[in-house]
Amino acid sequence: MKFPFHTVTRGWKTFHRFQQRGVLSEDQRLWSSALKCSRSSSQLCKEKCFYITTPIFYVNAAPHLGHLYSAVIADCLHRWKLLQGFESRFATGTDEHGLKIQQAADAAGKDPLTFCTEVSQRFETLFSSCSVSFTDYIRTTEQRHRRAVEHFWSVLWNKGLIYKGSYEGWYSTQDESFLTPSQVGDALDPSGKEVKVSLESGHKVEWMKEENYMFRLSSFRSLLLDWLVKNPSAVQPERFHQAVLQWLQEDLPDLSVSRQRSRLQWGIPVPGDPEQTIYVWLDALVNYLTVVGYPEKHERWWHVAHHVIGKDILKFHAIYWPAFLLGAGLPLPQVIHVHSHWTVGGRKMSKSLGNVVDPFEHSRMFTNDGLRYFLLRQGVPDTDCDYTHDKVLKLLNAELADSLGGLLNRCTAPALNPAQVYPAFCSHSFPRDQRGRAVEEDYHMVETVRSLSTVVEKHYESMQVYKALEAISTCVRQTNGFIQRHTPWKLDRKDSKDGRWLDTIIHLTLECLRVYGTLLQPVVPEISDRLLTRLGVQSQERSWKDLDFLGRYFGTDCSFEGRPLGSNCGLLFSRLETQSGDKQKTMKSKKPA
Ligand code: MSP
Repeated sequence: MKFPFHTVTRGWKTFHRFQQRGVLSEDQRLWSSALKCSRSSSQLCKEKCFYITTPIFYVNAAPHLGHLYSAVIADCLHRWKLLQGFESRFATGTDEHGLKIQQAADAAGKDPLTFCTEVSQRFETLFSSCSVSFTDYIRTTEQRHRRAVEHFWSVLWNKGLIYKGSYEGWYSTQDESFLTPSQVGDALDPSGKEVKVSLESGHKVEWMKEENYMFRLSSFRSLLLDWLVKNPSAVQPERFHQAVLQWLQEDLPDLSVSRQRSRLQWGIPVPGDPEQTIYVWLDALVNYLTVVGYPEKHERWWHVAHHVIGKDILKFHAIYWPAFLLGAGLPLPQVIHVHSHWTVGGRKMSKSLGNVVDPFEHSRMFTNDGLRYFLLRQGVPDTDCDYTHDKVLKLLNAELADSLGGLLNRCTAPALNPAQVYPAFCSHSFPRDQRGRAVEEDYHMVETVRSLSTVVEKHYESMQVYKALEAISTCVRQTNGFIQRHTPWKLDRKDSKDGRWLDTIIHLTLECLRVYGTLLQPVVPEISDRLLTRLGVQSQERSWKDLDFLGRYFGTDCSFEGRPLGSNCGLLFSRLETQSGDKQKTMKSKKPA
């Protein structure tokens, strides 16, 4: 591809040229239409479709727990949309270009591509083994991606949004990020030498001065503000939305989008200029488009794009990326879901601190679903959370083994349910007029469980998964309380009244469990499957629309009544115990009773 080439310097001259060519007004029209397009995308996409992405992961080091967390959140949203009857695409993958990858490959004594392939496979293996059900896996070293990036670049170039200039300022290779002087501070490196670091990440920065290509980021400030103000839920949770608005109050200089090839060889060359390599973040962000077939056939999915990202990469996703997209005349993502970080001992996980949690090891210790449950139950998007072994142990034992598992055991145990069926509900025992054997708290529980799906839906939708799980867990506790209150094991099955009441207690409990199992599928797919299978719920009866809870009480049918229970696959979740005397605290599961 050949591009017109004018070397211009930054400053008024550049801007003048930009205006002279009439680019500003022409493009502003285009950008406004891209904005409108992103606003009305939900109306445009008549079909129920959803596209969710994780950040693509750097391959300079092995995957850690924080990476798995980003992927599990996105997986949860993807599975939830599928349950709702959406056609959903879920993309993840690896970010393989850039200086730090080049350096990591050198240090490992491997050629960069071999090195990237090995680490990328580790990410893929981790995700597959933790039930991260991605539909697309992208690597930035793929040919399809290179094509997409080159095309994207050429669109920006042809619109006059990229110009050749010179950049002088701070750069962090670890973050692949440019910093203003106010974002840089002094620190001592491990050998006691004074160095400059990024105040945000703590990573070392270097002064960089070179000729490269600049993107007219500064021209997009008011459009970005407009987008954020008119779309208050574009960046969630709210505090991150506010953070982006705050950044936009400050100076927004043009952005360097290439590096001299002599300094960075491991990347995509600038089309028409083999002396320059495209900036890794521009390269990486385009992956979201590559996956859905950009530049030919991305429209259908691009209208419904949602990104899950960690808070450290907010600026790239909520400022650079929307500006690039506006420049290219493409709709903006519907929502950028931001999450905070997992810390260990109060500090962010890092290889140099030696506090990295290995997700392979921990998913073996706590099971895949156990680890997923913990991350999503304790991970609060707004604030950082500390990961401790004891917390995981206590939470999983209390909520999965004792509370949920115990509840299932109780109503499927042959002593209480000798026929191993979904027994009949008796409306005399549990009448609407509250004159049967049920007490006020039971009615309250029924109402709470009935509205649970609405509550859970709201929280899943806004990625507040911990709140959804808190609501489910409260209901599970209430249902255990219901059983405890009525001590069904003391009822005499031979007495017809007692027998009907006993069946009603079990029917109601099984109905509650069916709702919990269905709602928990996005979070703990294996446990939910075991639970629903045990209840005899077929795979085509597990979607959101199949939820209708306790039909026999609310005046509709219950297709489960009288049905045999499904096969017993053993304990729902085995209690975890610390092996005494083992400093590593490896876990063992207690044998089923
Ligand atoms: N390659 C870029 C993303 C490019 S997307 C176009 C990148 N990669 S990363 O491997 O460093 O991080 C990937 C994700 O992992 C980010 O969302 C980041 O926030 C997340 N996490 C990294 N450490 C984390 C924790 N300690 N806790 C939670 N998530 C963290 O950035």
